[in-house]
Amino acid sequence: MTAAVIDGKAFAEGLRARVGGLAAAFEAKAGRKAGLAVVLVGEDPASQVYVRSKGKSTVEAGMNSFEHKLPADTTEDDLLAVVAQLNADPAVDGILVQLPLPAHIDEQKVIATIAPDKDVDGFHVINAGRLAVGQPGFVPCTPLGCLMLLKDRLGDLSGLDAVVIGRSNIVGKPMAQLLIAESCTVTVAHSRTKNLAEVVRRADIVVAAVGRPEMVKGDWIKPGAVVIDVGINRVAGATEGKTRLVGDVDYASAAAVASAIAPVPGGVGPMTIAVLLRNTLVAAYRNAGLELAADAV
Ligand code: GUN
Repeated sequence: MTAAVIDGKAFAEGLRARVGGLAAAFEAKAGRKAGLAVVLVGEDPASQVYVRSKGKSTVEAGMNSFEHKLPADTTEDDLLAVVAQLNADPAVDGILVQLPLPAHIDEQKVIATIAPDKDVDGFHVINAGRLAVGQPGFVPCTPLGCLMLLKDRLGDLSGLDAVVIGRSNIVGKPMAQLLIAESCTVTVAHSRTKNLAEVVRRADIVVAAVGRPEMVKGDWIKPGAVVIDVGINRVAGATEGKTRLVGDVDYASAAAVASAIAPVPGGVGPMTIAVLLRNTLVAAYRNAGLELAADAV
């Protein structure tokens, strides 16, 4: 058997088109565009690429993009003042502070300063708490994108065994919460888990987010399982001096056993920005006091 390829790129394009339609409807009703502010501190090349890509996608979806690029030596107080100014700005519906921040700035303090109802990353403790207790709030973009791909593939997830490998605040923990809310039986495994292969072998759904290149092997996968690979690891390529992108799953061996697999690149990656746009749209409707059907996007 060869697994079906979960085409995150195509799904993300569809989601962005739906968001674009609803963003136009928002503008007609509210008399202004929805707006996303992205704050970048320093010149990390990968972060610069992400921020540029987020800005471009935001404008393509018919929303305003406000970019704040601050020097690497920006003080914590100055960054907190920028966040406070964005909190108070009625044109800004969503605020994203690109991580990682320089070492002299306390990330948790910055996240705690973002107004929870503009926290489209879903990183504020208020939003983590809302997710944990089942109240409406903002859910981190990458795990929400993974859930959308899983539901698109499997429909009802109720009763399925899910193993999440990784326990980060950005992916592993919120992913586990989302799967619990879908009535899965959820195991959170990580780098210290004993007999990881055996734990993974029980799963109908495997979400790999450990950051270890090609760690999950095909003989760990239960035949017919659905595998979502969140890993983005740059490794040495076949040609001297070249690198290539691989996930946390050994794709070739896993694809021989799974029923469906999200590849790297082209699986989860494109979903993250699409969900960010979706969260910004939801924030805009809520901040303007306008109705948006729960299943609209
Ligand atoms: N850095 C890498 N991914 C992300 C993300 O989803 N949000 C933010 N704010 N920073 C990131």
